[in-house]
Amino acid sequence: MPVEIIPTGAALGAEVRGLDLSRPLSDDDFEAVLQAWYDHIVLLFRRQKISDDDLIGFSRRFGDLDIAPASATDMAGSQTKSRPEIWIISNVVEDGKPIGALGDKEAEWHTDMSYVDEPPMASCLYSLEIPDSGGDTSFANMYKALEELPDDLRAAIEGRVCNHDSSTTSVGELRAGANEVIDVTKAPGAKHPVIRTHPATGGKSLYLGRRLNGYIEDLPVAESEALLDRLWAHCAKPEFAWTHQWAVGDLLIWDNRCAIHRRDAFDGSQRRVMHRAQIKGKQPF
Ligand code: OGA
Ligand code: MN
Repeated sequence: MPVEIIPTGAALGAEVRGLDLSRPLSDDDFEAVLQAWYDHIVLLFRRQKISDDDLIGFSRRFGDLDIAPASATDMAGSQTKSRPEIWIISNVVEDGKPIGALGDKEAEWHTDMSYVDEPPMASCLYSLEIPDSGGDTSFANMYKALEELPDDLRAAIEGRVCNHDSSTTSVGELRAGANEVIDVTKAPGAKHPVIRTHPATGGKSLYLGRRLNGYIEDLPVAESEALLDRLWAHCAKPEFAWTHQWAVGDLLIWDNRCAIHRRDAFDGSQRRVMHRAQIKGKQPF
């Protein structure tokens, strides 16, 4: 069966048809997937029946994987995973302990783990159980957001560096062991250029991490706050976004270097269980 790439028609995202990810991909098929991923930023594979080992095997074609942290992070308590490379994203609580991260809350626009010096290039999320409604995941194209940035905003960020705060999770909760940030100029985390270059495509994109406790270095705090508010309002425009409504067996892989994502809240009395692999990245430039 030939591989088919069907763009969503929105600013990013494409569905890949004709591949069974429970089998190793041929080099030709992987090349087609990789090129489609560079072109569309987020790829969707539907109706996959894969094991954790298959998820790891597929993700590893893109690069080395990060190991899910055991403690002191939003991933604490992922004890039902079968392999250290698997991160569990779930609201399910077993024996009084969450089996995974992020619960049932809304996750605001963010890119994964940009608060470390070498943030993951990609995340691969596979759905095992989903609620009847809610929990949709949206993505936004940060090449396009940069391209369409008003001139004055572009001039304001050219050559600037942003601190990406590490104190809170994607659902805005304080991480274990972290202190609440009072002064954004002193927030823990990592500093990255606001405009970054994609190492594979050469494209330039906006790289903001998340809004909470962000700080554009060397600016008075009020100026940084105002600038970040304007940048985030721009990035969150619907014309840059695409939303995915999950079905069991869907697998999404997204590029953290040139996309942001968010997740809707959902009814906490329903189960949502996703397994995730994270592909290592290099220091943004
Ligand atoms: C993530 C994430 C969104 C979701 O895994 O990094 O943001 O839909 N998940 O659960
Ligand atoms: Mn995320």
